[in-house]
Amino acid sequence: MAHFFYVHHAFPTYFKNTFEGHTATQLQKGVNRDDMRPAEVAIGAPKRLGNTSVATYHGPSFMIDDLIYHYEHGDTRTVLINCHYPIDENSFMLLYGISMQRPEVEDDDPAAAEALAAKMVATVRLGFEQDVEIWKNKTRIDNPLLCEEDGPVYQLRRWYEQFYVDVADVRPEMTERFEFELDTTRPIEAWKREVEENVARRAAEAAAAAVREPQDA
Ligand SMILES: [Fe+2]
Repeated sequence: MAHFFYVHHAFPTYFKNTFEGHTATQLQKGVNRDDMRPAEVAIGAPKRLGNTSVATYHGPSFMIDDLIYHYEHGDTRTVLINCHYPIDENSFMLLYGISMQRPEVEDDDPAAAEALAAKMVATVRLGFEQDVEIWKNKTRIDNPLLCEEDGPVYQLRRWYEQFYVDVADVRPEMTERFEFELDTTRPIEAWKREVEENVARRAAEAAAAAVREPQDA
């Protein structure tokens, strides 16, 4: 879960994993971060309030993420499809696509809707490519040192194992329904403080910069 805060600059308030059969689902709800607003302003994207994401892997290499972004002007439905299959011992081919519901704009102008959708898709794409950067550099650790908030890593591996054996050798513990909801109480408290500190630090830096470089009024 912490990955979403530190990698994607999201703020998870609800987080749950469900493994069942050949599917693995991650349900996540989150709110926007005031300390990340400058990045949205920079690309001219509208102000996001939060998001609801239901991401399901159908087998080990195909994921559909139903992603609803909550904006000031309303919700926008997005679907992120992600597919990756091995092409040799050490690499895989990654394909992904993003579709987005046409956003509502003033006067229903198609060109404006297209332009706004492109900016919103750019933020989804940015988020996905943050993961790609990690995948390029990660490796498997058989006995990782985990903390509570890392979630059910070993249960995920049991689920994943079903795809490494013949169908006849799939054991019940690989496919039985397993649900895990993280308690977000403590992370929410800690992250609220962190966001406030970031906002305060940026304001102080901006004020100091304004003193160094007085604007010609
Ligand atoms: Fe991620």
